[in-house]
Amino acid sequence: MSVVIVGTQWGDEGKGKIVDLVTERFDVVARYQGGHNAGHTVILKGKKYVLHLIPSGILHPEKACVIGNGVVLDPFALVEEFKFLEEQGIELEGRLLISNRCHLIMPYHTALEAAEEKRLDKNKIGTTSRGIGPCYEDKMGRRGIRLDELFMPEVFAQRVRDNVAFKNQILTRVYGWKPLDADEIVDRYQALVPTIRPYVADTSDYLNQVIREGKRVLFEGAQGTLLDVDHGTYPFVTSSNATAGGACIGTGVAPSEIRGVIGISKAYTTRVGEGPFPTELNNEIGEKIRDRGQEYGASTGRPRRCGWFDGVVVRYAAQINGLSTLVITKLDVLDDLDEILICTGYRYRGQLLEHFPTTIQVLAEVEPVYESHPGWKEDTSTIKDYRDLPEAARRYLDRLSELVETDISIISTGPDREETIVLEESPRLQKMFA
Ligand code: IMP
Repeated sequence: MSVVIVGTQWGDEGKGKIVDLVTERFDVVARYQGGHNAGHTVILKGKKYVLHLIPSGILHPEKACVIGNGVVLDPFALVEEFKFLEEQGIELEGRLLISNRCHLIMPYHTALEAAEEKRLDKNKIGTTSRGIGPCYEDKMGRRGIRLDELFMPEVFAQRVRDNVAFKNQILTRVYGWKPLDADEIVDRYQALVPTIRPYVADTSDYLNQVIREGKRVLFEGAQGTLLDVDHGTYPFVTSSNATAGGACIGTGVAPSEIRGVIGISKAYTTRVGEGPFPTELNNEIGEKIRDRGQEYGASTGRPRRCGWFDGVVVRYAAQINGLSTLVITKLDVLDDLDEILICTGYRYRGQLLEHFPTTIQVLAEVEPVYESHPGWKEDTSTIKDYRDLPEAARRYLDRLSELVETDISIISTGPDREETIVLEESPRLQKMFA
């Protein structure tokens, strides 16, 4: 039995906390795409953990974690995360498996990304500068270097030399940047082999085996639906499939094994990086939300752009991901607002749009259609039962659910695990966890 958790907006929906919360119902947690561009923050007993590559399930001693083939791996970022977890006394051996099919992020990926973002200037994507896009480019271009090749020293050295010779041409001739030294790269990567090797396996085989044994797997999506390379706001997207379908491709588990999809959405909207954002608030309400919600990137520290909840976006995400249920996070951030707006539709050149537009030029021009809701002006962070929420907050949540056409089953009202309302009686939730 497997369940996928996905972000329904532009990432940073608070997936880390929810994954952590539901992990107790699963045996294995698997990541299926992205890389260390992601930042999953979990607060456990008042202590903050930020993980970029390793699934947050690792914080639960009895769970196994998998980094699937769809993930692009920076081995230096991985080893840093090993160190961080070891310092926290968290045992990794026998609990973490990394796919031997993962593509390696190489120094030329980060260099090429920096050069390209500079060339794009004001049209830049606003990436996390981790080399993610160029690594996926090489994967699709069939020039990528996979983790299994790292363990064949001669093959690896040759592959790096060939690739560096080619990338140096681009770096120096196209961008006017300095060339890279292939041998230095080979040595640095080979030095990591003893640390990484014990964790590497055919994880597709492993996952299928545990599923056959009747164990439960949670697939943890990184980023969000609107950052998906196919279904997001292209080209202002990441370079992988962050939507639920990516879970199968990125782990080698069949769609028939997926029982449900949990979508995570903030009670409002945020985005980091460039690209259109119809409900963005460039005013003091946006700043208030940023301050109260501590809306700064977990990976890059960049301030996030903030705006009202966009019902068009999340309804679209519900369709693309086939959401079984919806989790609303950070409700408490709205606690002291007098008035809260919800975007129910878009108007484009006088016409009401029925669907989320596929073209960003259209998205950049749409005007959100808003409805106004009264604020509840009460602290929701200590509330444990849905029925104890202020009436205005319940009405707000009911309206979100209605617009997205999906049941809400979990509401998060603060960063700590304790600050959560779980609607245990939700039939969708029960069916998924049965
Ligand atoms: P990249 O993934 O570094 O290539 O960045 C592409 C776009 O995705 C940029 O707008 C980034 O800000 C955004 N992005 C990448 N990872 C995350 C994330 O974990 N949360 C939010 N935005 C992200």
